[in-house]
Amino acid sequence: MNIDVALLKKYDRPGPRYTSYPTAPLFNAAFTAADFRNEIVATNSPGTTADLSLYVHIPFCDTLCFFCGCTMLVTRDRKRIDEYLRYLKTEISRIASLIAPGRRVTQLHWGGGTPTHLSPEEMRELASALRSAFEFAPDAECSVEIDPRELDREHLEALAESGFNRMSMGVQDFELPVQSAVNRIQPEWVSRQVYGWARELGFSSINIDLMYGLPHQTVDSFERTVRGVIGYSPDRIAVFNYAHVPWLKPHQKLIHQDDLPTPEAKLDILKMTIELLTANGYEYIGMDHFARPDDELARARANRTLYRNFQGYSTKAGADLYGFGMSAISHFENIYAQNTKTLTEYYRALDAGTLATHVGYRMTADDHVRKHVIMRLMCDLDLDMESVERRFGIQFETYFARAMDALVPLEQDRLIERRGNHLVIVGPGRLLLRNIAMCFDAYLERLSKEKPIFSRTV
Ligand SMILES: C[S@@+](CC[C@H](N)C(=O)[O-])C[C@H]1O[C@@H](n2cnc3c(N)ncnc32)[C@H](O)[C@@H]1O
Ligand code: SF4
Repeated sequence: MNIDVALLKKYDRPGPRYTSYPTAPLFNAAFTAADFRNEIVATNSPGTTADLSLYVHIPFCDTLCFFCGCTMLVTRDRKRIDEYLRYLKTEISRIASLIAPGRRVTQLHWGGGTPTHLSPEEMRELASALRSAFEFAPDAECSVEIDPRELDREHLEALAESGFNRMSMGVQDFELPVQSAVNRIQPEWVSRQVYGWARELGFSSINIDLMYGLPHQTVDSFERTVRGVIGYSPDRIAVFNYAHVPWLKPHQKLIHQDDLPTPEAKLDILKMTIELLTANGYEYIGMDHFARPDDELARARANRTLYRNFQGYSTKAGADLYGFGMSAISHFENIYAQNTKTLTEYYRALDAGTLATHVGYRMTADDHVRKHVIMRLMCDLDLDMESVERRFGIQFETYFARAMDALVPLEQDRLIERRGNHLVIVGPGRLLLRNIAMCFDAYLERLSKEKPIFSRTV
């Protein structure tokens, strides 16, 4: 890929990451816990066999990484963790009692925070609570986010014995000046050791998270990190663009602005990273994700069965997503429902005998059309406009007249091309998927007028 740094800079602006459409700022309190419950009941009539995908949020972390944009709480108070797990089990059984018998879990993900901040015993108990409440498909994809720091082999053994077969490891950067500036000291040998344990225990797909745009990073320093990670040979590598949103995450102010790489330096780092990873056999999937050609993600890209969810790219479409825990999001065909974002509210809702929904959203007919278009563009890099017309009974160019106008400058910059009935993302357009998707977003103008919400696209 020919990477024109000046062109990328031109498109650097705030924008959503489109892990959902409509995006999370549209979720609102008009959609209540009772609405969510009714939707669960309505979509679980006897005989329903649609697959289930479960997400469990474990918000706890041992220490604070100054860059962190996740919904997390730093605590070492084991009683607090124990209390959370008790409520989580209540929520699991409350929801499971509404699920039609015969529906099977094909995907489970534990995210955070840091799921491995739980003890091996706590992880076993949580996994067994889920397995007793739901029926799992024998080949279910079970993945977990792990932090190699303060992790023993027993943690991974507990996960493997509980049926986890995939993991995502947070590494970010191997260099000490970067690690010191973000309060995350993680010697390289620690990551290497944990990676080795995971392979010995048979985890079949391992992802490593890196981050660029952190303080003191340079092209040379980050190249050492990327080369180091390639040496492990993970199945997937995610290279996140550091989202600096101190208005949403005030602790990010602990990162000194002067230590951050300039936008030009960040783009040079990105260019080096893409070139190095692709030269070493990784395919660029899109956004922040790279995968080996034999990994499912790369195969799904080739077969056009890739889709996006709250964890980024995924291979299992069509399952209803049930989120458990504080801040977790559920998504069925017609709704999004997000749980309360504080522990107190989460516990209060469950004590009151209700579900813990705090905001949500019911999709309109227009949302379905736009979601499909954004999803296919971001996953396939190619949109068959005629198939959209057939599927939704619309005339594409009329329906999307504003979007087509907004795309003109992007066409002129050769980010996207019209080829017959297709819109095809080309060249550097692959790095600007968010900008392309933004042309089809009906709410962006309104949201942009409100307070700043989104991170920058490049
Ligand atoms: C929940 S953490 C992964 C598990 C574990 N907590 C850890 O950090 O090792 C998810 C990932 O989000 C990414 N991340 C966190 N804050 C971010 C930010 N502000 N911008 C971009 N990526 C971020 C990091 O790469 C991190 O590994
Ligand atoms: S990056 Fe991971 S370990 Fe660090 S604070 Fe965020 S969730 Fe916790």
